[in-house]
Amino acid sequence: MTSAIYLDYQATTPMDSRALEAMLPFLRQDFGNPHSTQHQFGQKAQLAVEAARGKIARLIGADSREIVFTSGATESNNLAIMGAARFRARMGDGVKRVLVFAFEHKCVLESALSLKEEGFEVEILPVTSEGFANLDALREALKKPTSLVSLMAANNEIGTIQPIEASVHVAASSTRCLCRRSDRGSVGRSLSSSETASSRCWRKAPHLPVLEHGPRSLTCMRAGGWQTHEAQGT
Ligand SMILES: Cc1ncc(COP(=O)(O)O)c(C=O)c1O
Repeated sequence: MTSAIYLDYQATTPMDSRALEAMLPFLRQDFGNPHSTQHQFGQKAQLAVEAARGKIARLIGADSREIVFTSGATESNNLAIMGAARFRARMGDGVKRVLVFAFEHKCVLESALSLKEEGFEVEILPVTSEGFANLDALREALKKPTSLVSLMAANNEIGTIQPIEASVHVAASSTRCLCRRSDRGSVGRSLSSSETASSRCWRKAPHLPVLEHGPRSLTCMRAGGWQTHEAQGT
């Protein structure tokens, strides 16, 4: 008899036994609501949540106040894309144009496309036949004033590591826009040196990075680093 082998670890993985061990006390006896801090059950849970927030922040070089826990990657992506686009339209220069790449998860594509109802122009950029963001198309698209570019760090279906650093440079040289990267499935995995370099560049560069990973139904996003690229010479 043959048994099935699960190979799609970009989509999901079994929970690491160390994560399970760490969670078990909070699923059994220490199940307080971390927002009910008027009693010791809640206080204990709150301390654990804050400790976890601090660890995640250190993992990606963020401030723990930037880490927001969400119910899943879809919620993180929705909050980040709609939040950033609306923020720029209201508080920035009124530009309402968003760029995403064709191979993004549908929660990214749908969030972006839903902004059309609010008068945003949304362009879905092509990817190369090898599964990378097409930077020539990005360069061309950025000739029009753009408020947000979104690109995943690693593709969840084919595993290609995206040229984040190069994309940031393209965006920086052509427009004044926010960039965000989605890290679902790549944070905490062993990184190649080029990927580590691009993560660093992304952090130094203006960004609205988002990351999501962890046990099912426990996801987080980084909601900090709000800066914009200034066009060269402006
Ligand atoms: C790249 C990517 N983004 C978003 C999602 C949606 O994640 P969730 O089910 O946590 O909302 C997935 C799900 O597999 C994914 O692979």
